[in-house]
Amino acid sequence: MSDLIRKSVQAMSGYVPGEQPKGEGIVKLNTNENPYLPSADVQDILNMVDIAMLSRYPDPLCMEVRKVIAQLHGCGVENVFVGNGSDEVLALCIRAFVERGGSVGYFDPSYSLYPILADIEDVEKRPVALDAAFGWQMPADYSASLFFLTNPNAPTSLLHDKAAIEDFVKSFSGVVLIDEAYGDFARENCMEFALEYDNVIVARTLSKAYSLAGIRLGYCVGNAALIGAMYKIKDSYNVNYLTQEIARVALLDQDTMRANVQAIVEVRKLVANTLKEYGFEVFPSESNFLWAKPPKMSAGKLFELLRAKKIIVRWFSGERTKDYLRITIGTAPEMFTFLDAVKEILEEQ
Ligand SMILES: Cc1ncc(COP(=O)(O)O)c(C=O)c1O
Repeated sequence: MSDLIRKSVQAMSGYVPGEQPKGEGIVKLNTNENPYLPSADVQDILNMVDIAMLSRYPDPLCMEVRKVIAQLHGCGVENVFVGNGSDEVLALCIRAFVERGGSVGYFDPSYSLYPILADIEDVEKRPVALDAAFGWQMPADYSASLFFLTNPNAPTSLLHDKAAIEDFVKSFSGVVLIDEAYGDFARENCMEFALEYDNVIVARTLSKAYSLAGIRLGYCVGNAALIGAMYKIKDSYNVNYLTQEIARVALLDQDTMRANVQAIVEVRKLVANTLKEYGFEVFPSESNFLWAKPPKMSAGKLFELLRAKKIIVRWFSGERTKDYLRITIGTAPEMFTFLDAVKEILEEQ
């Protein structure tokens, strides 16, 4: 049987998405989703959908959504690619910009999908280890065909210095994909670099700030030549009709997105301060999650004890990440339940 499967596929392990537990009373803080409702215009557009449209293929070029995105970022539609989640955008970047013998770079730790996408395409991985404080320093003479620069980074929640990113993109000869999945929660972003530098693409998603993980829509902005290459190789109808309609109205309603982000940022501050009072080391988050090291016990143990109380956070067992928990910011009541549980567990120690 194994003769039928590519060797690189046999050798690789598949991506394991965060658990989607079902059941009553679960506090789900493990996959960086948004706990608030998306724009009310989404409900309206769903009520207005003409089911006759579903018998037709959707617009392969997502023109209406791209027009809204282009308006939002002050660029042309030729600078915008729309994909089936930003995961598709990332995968297409490897296929479009990395030759067979090429290489893909990314931070370690960072989004755990990057090495898997490299494995799927069977290209070399060149991770750059972050320092003890999860800061960033490019090794001398570093090169790669494509670098995934996650900002704010996940799972560390940290925003990297914008000037340092600009210096890097200027000196780097490959494509830099700045993954701003969490950019809407941060005090600044690098979108302007996508229009200023020919080798920069900035990716965004509707899964986090727009509360629309379920529709699967991500996009990127960049030089028209790079965007055109991605359009050449994508699946014909990569974004379905309903998703295009929902995304269009949600993107037009920036006020709802901003209000939800503001609520998350406020709760984030409260949770970070309380965890610090409990003795946690908490990193200064610029995202919708916290990266925190518990006192008194290992992160793995706290993860299990919280789980037993139906509170699901994320714990990554790797060497660089095993001492920390990644905690998605939920609603204020969810976070009080979480904080009460943490306090109780720590007091029992
Ligand atoms: C850094 C980063 N990039 C991209 C994604 C994928 O987002 P999407 O839901 O748009 O595929 C995630 C999802 O968690 C992420 O953490």
